[in-house]
Amino acid sequence: MDRRYRKAIIAANWKMNINPSEAKKLTTAMLKCSSAKDTSVVLCVPAIDLTIVKRVLRQSRIAVGGQNCHYEDTGAFTGEVSAQMLYDAGAKYVIIGHSERRSMFGETDEIVRKKVAAAIRAGLRPIICVGETEEQREMGITEEQIRIQVKSAVYGLDADDFRKVVFAYEPVWAIGTGKTATPEDANEVCKAIRACLREKYGARPSRGTSILYGGSMNEENAPALLAMPHIDGGLIGGASLKPEAFAAIVAATK
Ligand code: PGA
Repeated sequence: MDRRYRKAIIAANWKMNINPSEAKKLTTAMLKCSSAKDTSVVLCVPAIDLTIVKRVLRQSRIAVGGQNCHYEDTGAFTGEVSAQMLYDAGAKYVIIGHSERRSMFGETDEIVRKKVAAAIRAGLRPIICVGETEEQREMGITEEQIRIQVKSAVYGLDADDFRKVVFAYEPVWAIGTGKTATPEDANEVCKAIRACLREKYGARPSRGTSILYGGSMNEENAPALLAMPHIDGGLIGGASLKPEAFAAIVAATK
């Protein structure tokens, strides 16, 4: 990562793990992830755990986030959680467009765009996930796929709103599989994301945007990935449920 322009962000994605009755213990164990001043640590937790996690973290610099939100602010959407609700419960971030949501819950680029806008309206920082499938990588259309996802996610965002955006490059084939992109390949795609943002927002804003890598990041591969100039942090699934491993990844940003 290039420390001159951007802050490192290490975000945990607990996914649909950790019941409210378990959240306090895991969060307390996470408190030892004391981070460098220029690294932000975020725990993106199930919505029902948010209040408990927030309470444990209140004296710490670790932030909390949601994993999804609805694109409307309020209304008759049984079972949904709005960005405003996440914000009100203490969240600072929300993951938007994770590949599990795109592939299993039918989230299109259009829905992702609307959710990004809702998150920003509510005062949250969206962590926008983009990534290619294994088939798309084999076909050689990784960059085309990423450009479509990136451009549609920020479509309509002005320069002010754009400053709140964080991206996560998550190759679909690397999520939860134990396969990781090589640091060089991951860096190439993060660089392409930045180039795409530069076309729309110009050099300075794109240089200041944090772009994370996600997909089987762990304490062993994190140092090499985080050493790449365009990778500014990580979105961590499996390893974020293990406090020691997660702390080691945070430490690798220093
Ligand atoms: P993983 O998940 O680290 O378990 O691959 C990452 C993610 O899905 O955000």
